[in-house]
Amino acid sequence: MRYYIKTFGCQMNVYDSQRIADILDNMGHTPVSQIKNADIILFNTCHIREKAAEKLFSDLGRAEIIKQDRALEGKETIIGVVGCVVQAENEQISKRAPYVNFATGPLTYHRIPEILERIARQKNICIIDTEFPAESKFDYLPENHAHGGCAYLAVQEGCNNFCTYCIVPYTRGVETSRPIDDVINEAKILVNSGVLEINLLGQNVNSYHGEDANGKEHNLAYLLNKMSEIEGLQRLRYTTSYPADMTDDLISCHKNLSKLMPYLHLPLQSGSDKILKAMNRRHNTAQYLTVIEKLQNANPNLRFASDFIVGFPGETDQDFEATLKIAKQINYIQSFSFKYSRRPGTPAAVFPNQVEEKIKQQRLAVLQDELFAMQLKFNQSCTGKTMPVLFESKGKQKGEIFGRTPYMQTLVAKGDVSNLNLIKNVTITSGGMNSLAGTIINPTKVL
Ligand code: SAH
Ligand code: SF4
Ligand code: F3S
Repeated sequence: MRYYIKTFGCQMNVYDSQRIADILDNMGHTPVSQIKNADIILFNTCHIREKAAEKLFSDLGRAEIIKQDRALEGKETIIGVVGCVVQAENEQISKRAPYVNFATGPLTYHRIPEILERIARQKNICIIDTEFPAESKFDYLPENHAHGGCAYLAVQEGCNNFCTYCIVPYTRGVETSRPIDDVINEAKILVNSGVLEINLLGQNVNSYHGEDANGKEHNLAYLLNKMSEIEGLQRLRYTTSYPADMTDDLISCHKNLSKLMPYLHLPLQSGSDKILKAMNRRHNTAQYLTVIEKLQNANPNLRFASDFIVGFPGETDQDFEATLKIAKQINYIQSFSFKYSRRPGTPAAVFPNQVEEKIKQQRLAVLQDELFAMQLKFNQSCTGKTMPVLFESKGKQKGEIFGRTPYMQTLVAKGDVSNLNLIKNVTITSGGMNSLAGTIINPTKVL
């Protein structure tokens, strides 16, 4: 059969979708780029904010029409939903989209082969699997195939932090870390098939505590040291980190490990200690600033990115001003900022003093003006510099290719596809808000 997967949400979902593709490839199915040609349509979903979840239902509506059109041509279509919306709202899915054939949460997609077999035997059933299983999906997945020069590698699942606004601990369950050897083996397979950069993933990746072969637990600093010894691997990243879990040995990795890229995503969420407390974050602003200072001492080239939520219940103008102030002080080079969204079942959804939508909107606009200005300034300041860029894909225009700098900036250069999946030195010629332009110093080939 031919399959099509649409992915919403975070890097973890991107990783999961690639692993689902590996499962389907292993079963002899093939990917297609156009949804109307797919015998299996899959949506890998995100529940982090209201809008993210609503997008699913409009996409499902369109998929149903495709299913009906294909049925007129005598073709069957299986529609499946996976990911965080399933875990949080499986009843809604069967109510609002009864034509869905199966739905599995983010921890049970390794069961897709059995599910597809059941569907082949019994037409018109709807299978819903939202168990938090005793087994680890990672033990049942086929080999991770490289999908280019950069790869995500999930080292941890779930989260125990229970920030009061956040749905993740309810959709991904408690935090579990994969054993060290499993991670290293997966990394070696990726590197042997051409991967140059690996981004270790976890919702709270810096609280990683995987076991070695003797059952002894090790932290992320240990894992990064081990990863760095892999020959052929050139770049390492890890995301997303929780500020209170930035241990001194992890900070030292930014000094000692040359493969570790000088860019760290360390979400602050708010610059007000009162709001951080109400969010149940285990750090205040002073502790956050101390961590930033230590990291900067470890590697003066290190630059930071953050996530922010505006309009959390009880946020006053003064609280918001404090967020603006600290954002400017840290001079983030990239940020992701959101209006607070009430997630059913999370504590903050029923907090009093919910902030009016209009105020949330205004605060987001003001904050984003600042954040985007800092991002633009940093990108512009790169002009004239030479940076190693890992080229990942073809650009929009013919003869153009896209890559990433060590700072995660997107860069576009003239070059043909023989430069893809290679790291090339590039002289930056200009920097805009969302990307840089540059000239490859020694291109394999230019069109
Ligand atoms: N585990 C990561 C982030 C997970 S979700 C971390 O803790 O940093 C990604 C981002 O979405 C969060 O950092 C937060 O800024 C935002 N987010 C999560 N829940 C939200 C909500 N209910 N409303 C608005 N933004 C939210
Ligand atoms: Fe959500 Fe907080 Fe866990 Fe991040 S650390 S996934 S924001 S609960
Ligand atoms: Fe969304 Fe689930 Fe990731 S809710 S942000 S896809 S962990």
